[in-house]
Amino acid sequence: MRPWTLLGVLSLLAAVPDALAVKQADFKTCSQAGFCRRGRALSARATEAGKSWNSPYSVDVPSISIAPNKAVFTAGVKSSLYPEIQFGLELRVHDDGVVRVRMDEVNGLRKRYDEAASWALISEPVVSEEIQWVAGKKDIRAKYGNGNEVVVAFEPLKVSLLRGGKEQVVLNGNGLLHMEHFRTKTPAATGTEEPEPAAEEGSEQVVLETPANPRAWFEGDKEDDWWEERFSSWTDSKPKGPESLSIDISFPNHATIYGIPQHATDLALPTTTGESPTFSEPFRLWNSDVFEYIASSPMSLYGSIPILHAHSADSTVGIFHAVGSETWIDVSHPTDKSTQTHWISESGILDIFLMPGPTTDEVFAQYARLTGTQVLPPQWSLGYHQCRWNYISTDDIRTVQKRFDEEDMPVDVFWLDIEYSEDHKYFMWEERGFPDPVEMTNDVAAVERKMVVIVDPHLKRADNYPVYKEASERGVLVKPASGDGEYEGWCWSGSSSWIDFFNPGAWAWWKDLFKPTKLASGTWSWTKSTTDIHIWNDMNEPSVFNGPEISMPRDNVHFNGWEHRDVHNINGMLFSNHTWQAVRERTNPPERPFVLTRSFFAGSQRFGAMWTGDNLGTWEHMAVGIKMVLANSIAGMSFSGSDVGGFFGNPEPEMLVRWYQVGIFNPFFRAHAHLDTKRREPFLLDEPYKGMIKDLLRLRYTMLPVWYTAFRETSVAGVPVLRPHYVVFPKDTKGFTVDDQYFIGSSGLLVKPITDKGVTQTKVYLPESQVYYDYFSHLVYRGSSKGREVKVNAELHQVPVLIRGGSIIPTRERPRRSSPLMRNDPFTLRVALSKTGSASGELYLDDGVSYSHESGEFVWRRFGATTEKKVVTLTSRDLGAENKDAAVDGVALVAYNPTKNAFAESIAAVRVEKIVVLGLAGKPSSVKLDGKELVWEFTPGVAASGKEKESAVASVLSIKDPRVRVVEDWAIQIAL
Ligand code: GLC
Repeated sequence: MRPWTLLGVLSLLAAVPDALAVKQADFKTCSQAGFCRRGRALSARATEAGKSWNSPYSVDVPSISIAPNKAVFTAGVKSSLYPEIQFGLELRVHDDGVVRVRMDEVNGLRKRYDEAASWALISEPVVSEEIQWVAGKKDIRAKYGNGNEVVVAFEPLKVSLLRGGKEQVVLNGNGLLHMEHFRTKTPAATGTEEPEPAAEEGSEQVVLETPANPRAWFEGDKEDDWWEERFSSWTDSKPKGPESLSIDISFPNHATIYGIPQHATDLALPTTTGESPTFSEPFRLWNSDVFEYIASSPMSLYGSIPILHAHSADSTVGIFHAVGSETWIDVSHPTDKSTQTHWISESGILDIFLMPGPTTDEVFAQYARLTGTQVLPPQWSLGYHQCRWNYISTDDIRTVQKRFDEEDMPVDVFWLDIEYSEDHKYFMWEERGFPDPVEMTNDVAAVERKMVVIVDPHLKRADNYPVYKEASERGVLVKPASGDGEYEGWCWSGSSSWIDFFNPGAWAWWKDLFKPTKLASGTWSWTKSTTDIHIWNDMNEPSVFNGPEISMPRDNVHFNGWEHRDVHNINGMLFSNHTWQAVRERTNPPERPFVLTRSFFAGSQRFGAMWTGDNLGTWEHMAVGIKMVLANSIAGMSFSGSDVGGFFGNPEPEMLVRWYQVGIFNPFFRAHAHLDTKRREPFLLDEPYKGMIKDLLRLRYTMLPVWYTAFRETSVAGVPVLRPHYVVFPKDTKGFTVDDQYFIGSSGLLVKPITDKGVTQTKVYLPESQVYYDYFSHLVYRGSSKGREVKVNAELHQVPVLIRGGSIIPTRERPRRSSPLMRNDPFTLRVALSKTGSASGELYLDDGVSYSHESGEFVWRRFGATTEKKVVTLTSRDLGAENKDAAVDGVALVAYNPTKNAFAESIAAVRVEKIVVLGLAGKPSSVKLDGKELVWEFTPGVAASGKEKESAVASVLSIKDPRVRVVEDWAIQIAL
């Protein structure tokens, strides 16, 4: 199906170039980016020089100043190469032990961009008042809790974070720190000449030490792309000249690192330098719209989060570099036990946060205190999202909705891509196809479903487009390099301009646009919408079809005169931030918004969900999508997923079924497809595939309580919804590289989606001496403390899901058309007894849409099972009441008030309709609540036959209607 508009056809053509895969030539390699080339050349010279390499940077000792009673010190830093240039260093120890290291040029010719952290951080971190710096002859140091110590060596400058005397993180240990200071272009500077051809990788000219020319020894002997730079047909005017920042960050005692999303690669980051590196290019962070990206590559993608976890069996530490400019990161392992990274950024200050851990969970909490947690989304947004480019009319949406209902397939959200809009003027309905958008939305909302509609950041430069006109009149559009007028580029809407969200003058106006009512101010607002419409922000890297590397020129000008190069990676986050605020403030009191973004930065987790962009309908993309979602999860962005089915291509039914199996175990679960693909809504498939997908959709809905509980935990503690092995078993070295199976929250559910064709069985890695149960068949698998793989059946209708012994899984087993309709449905509890006969699990519920949970209107239960003297006791406790006085940093964790909880009252009658206990040693003699026998059934287990360790089946006790309610405390006794 195609939209009939001319622009629809044009956009189709634009989106399907003749090349079949990514046009790599559209994007720079390191050697094609002047500053990256210079940074790598610096590193090559250091390697060549070996021990004789010396960092020219040192602390100007007399300038050291220590703030009284504060863990803050400042000092001047000098480079022996440029004694006349001043740098300033500042270290702060926060009261949770995070160390912030900032370095900037002082009194330079110009100012470096220093605001990246102000966009990423939730607030100015609190500096410890207990820690004192002690200055010595060679260094200044501070010791603090947990055996931590931070040391700043004076000459050469080196910053180390130690624990127990062991180095955890070291900055400039290899002497690659280089902050290119601002300079004046000398007549000899030859920026206007034809540039020399980019040096081939690895062929950087090594300038040997010449005492006469130490600058050349360190910096290289030519002004390599300092003043102007060309790429393909574009010229970057570089008005500020060279200002790049190079820094080596080493982890001498950690051999595995994770993070710096977004890249299509393994979770444990592969090497890019050193001996036989996996990739020859560094990992790149430069938010980009990459058409048909490669499934294994360090190329940059749509979003960037400059955070790393460095992990070993002893500890996890982390670093976060608040830099918004293009950044390349080389990774190597100098020894089996260590990791070295080299960060090369185009501009900005050095602003690195050292997160001491020492546990993985503490690193999550430390990062969350800096940049915030994943916002608790509206509960319905954890349901299934049905999207395609494009549903072409309001009747199309109605028909799709009808078909889902006829097939009994649950779905919460229908999506509209760009063709809903007239000439891609977002907010403006294409009247022929969408004459009645409010009625359509109301039809969808009649069964408590929602719509999500796309709003991209490019504004069509048309006089009949009020959004563009108003932005233009307010002067809030991004400016071209000249600093005058409006930057003009091409995107879906043809000739377009972009709102500069760095300009506070755009903020209130942008919010007003989303109001579904007429405004007294007379400015335009979206009266043809309702509060059941939520928003999809796409193309916000920003994508500019005729721009360098499909984006904006770096010398474009933003608010306060900053260049686009300074803020590029932050740009997408500001768009989703302000859209999120706009959607939240449509109503009074506010309701939780849902905003999906393609581009993101550190902190984007506060504004909703992301997806992995335009993946391909291939097995490789299905597999790497899981790793990408895990990488995002550990970098704070838990609400992620990849397009189910693959954006490009027409997946065969087997692949589609497997893709839904991946999708139902992604936090964000959306099917999406390119304009040029065949329709593939699940109801269109033939049997048996249709039935399989229906079962998968229904499985997702039964598990929504698990997902919502996991999201609530993330929103409070920062620990992610999807947890790779190293997060759950940080000491198990064999699990460090496992990234094709993972746990969901603290639930104990372990999932291994199948991402290969023709699979009937798979291996699941079990890292501990514990029993695991197959969720569906109750087959029993035994792990080992040394780690062991077990064979698990994985025919096409089977997705491997195991329950870790010791877990209690709350589900709702009556999926309905949409998730809000399940609000009064009863619960089922699956109690998976551990080896020692115990189990526990949590359930969190609130109204799912408002902010009343912040004033205590929620239900938070802990279910438990203990075995003592041949009696298994199942209990339900009120965690809200138990934790009501718990506080972190003086802020109450929960404002729970058991006597005034309208939400709890609204579900007071909701029952637990069934309890299933797996793994009882034998048939019970009685199962009682308050001394009264309940109705139950027992199926004995089956012992393993012969050598087949995996053939044992757990015993199953099924208590039907245990006569308990979910909001109440209760205890059930099972006598054995
Ligand atoms: C981009 C998005 C894709 C969307 C298309 C049209 O390619 O990544 O999801 O369908 O634009 O809006």
